[in-house]
Amino acid sequence: MTRSPTYFIKTYGCQMNERDTEILAGQLGVLGYSPAGRDRDADLIIVNTCAVRGSAEEHAFGYIGQLKQLKDANPGVRLAVAGCMAQEPGTIAWLKRYADHVDLVFGTHNLHELPRLLDEVEQRDEMLIDVWRTAGEVVEHLPSRRNDGVRASVNIIYGCDKFCTYCIVPFTRGKERSRDVLPIVEEVRALAAQGYEDITLLGQNVNSFGHDLNPPQDLSDLLAQLETIEGVRWLRYTTSHPRDFSQRLIDTIAASSKITRHVHLPVQAGSNRVLKRMNRKYTVESYLDLVGRIKAAVADVSLTTDIIVGFPGETEQEFEETLRLVREVRYDAAFTFLYSPREGTPAARWEGRDPVPNSAKKDRLNRLMALQYEISLQANQALVGREELALVEGVSKKNDMVWAGRTHSNKVVLFARHPQDDLIDRFVPVRISGAKTFYLLGEQIGGPLARPSSRDRVELPLL
Ligand code: 5AD
Ligand code: SF4
Repeated sequence: MTRSPTYFIKTYGCQMNERDTEILAGQLGVLGYSPAGRDRDADLIIVNTCAVRGSAEEHAFGYIGQLKQLKDANPGVRLAVAGCMAQEPGTIAWLKRYADHVDLVFGTHNLHELPRLLDEVEQRDEMLIDVWRTAGEVVEHLPSRRNDGVRASVNIIYGCDKFCTYCIVPFTRGKERSRDVLPIVEEVRALAAQGYEDITLLGQNVNSFGHDLNPPQDLSDLLAQLETIEGVRWLRYTTSHPRDFSQRLIDTIAASSKITRHVHLPVQAGSNRVLKRMNRKYTVESYLDLVGRIKAAVADVSLTTDIIVGFPGETEQEFEETLRLVREVRYDAAFTFLYSPREGTPAARWEGRDPVPNSAKKDRLNRLMALQYEISLQANQALVGREELALVEGVSKKNDMVWAGRTHSNKVVLFARHPQDDLIDRFVPVRISGAKTFYLLGEQIGGPLARPSSRDRVELPLL
């Protein structure tokens, strides 16, 4: 008997990329592949890359380089590069020059073609490069292999049309394309029936969902409809653009018991001049107004953000305006990034003329992080005494007598583990008893909530 072939997928980047990996894995499952625990045990290795910043690309380039050793030791192994970097001409040139051990390159728009591409690779001696420059129609009903557990992600909109001047995503993921409402609802219903209780709706800009459909649809209506599905306990969505965050959406979140009270609202900068040059299409004033309306309507909302420091031409004074905004909004957490020039974007050209010196960039990042850590700690301290549900993800990395879970607003909470209990993937009531900068401490105050009765897992759902 010949053994079934195995695969290993290395995934970089965002949740959209992780979801793509599930679809790649689903297709491989249909072809008879099974997952290998390590790359060196696999017959096929796919590197699903991210292009958002230079650092993500460097990691992927480093890993692709390392794979040469595996290929030399085992020429039968097939190596593929996929994802956002594959959409960039610079990556293709690099691969041709430095990585002729790679067998296949495909992009974000044709991952559904994996079976055909694998077939074709066997017919050729050189690298097969099949990258679509633009996106085709949304492809439904692809097989998918999701992780076990109770969390699942569901794509609702692909691509991004906003063209922020620093960002590569509109080039790597194409224009905005929403999925129809019906297949989304069917997918979430099927997931709920299989025991997935914590659903995250995904898109580069979920707030634009449905605007391109005929008749147009709206994220608020979609959320309200998904909320009625039995078995869905928590409903999340990411990522939001402040420009399209409607009052209707705020009202829908406020009225809901399932939609997360966590709003991730990337601000990117706190200066109107910088925001304008970033092409964000909102002002500090309109952003603060939005934040005020969210805070007023959604009790105990947890707000997080993304901020870029050192955008070309950013002055010290403009950076201080970002600090001022952070002090005013008091985010629960912020993801802070050094500006990274992306070839082909307008800001990358400005970086050539008017860069912020590296030392100033790093100094600004440190000051921003120090301020945010102080605020995060205070925000977490304010939760002490509160009762929350924690979705248990596993044992703490540092102490196996401690459970690590997440609250509805996506904060990590640690609480004591009794060795006889298996609480993984269960929703457990806890009282918050302590706070650190990056997590909460809790005490379990009751048994896990009952699982929905419909829980019957099916392997490889065709979704
Ligand atoms: N440089 C630094 N950070 C970037 N981001 C996107 N593009 C760049 C870039 N060129 C950040 C933004 C975005 C997050 C996902 O990554 O803050 O919200
Ligand atoms: Fe990275 Fe953006 Fe592509 Fe996600 S969409 S993988 S963050 S470049």
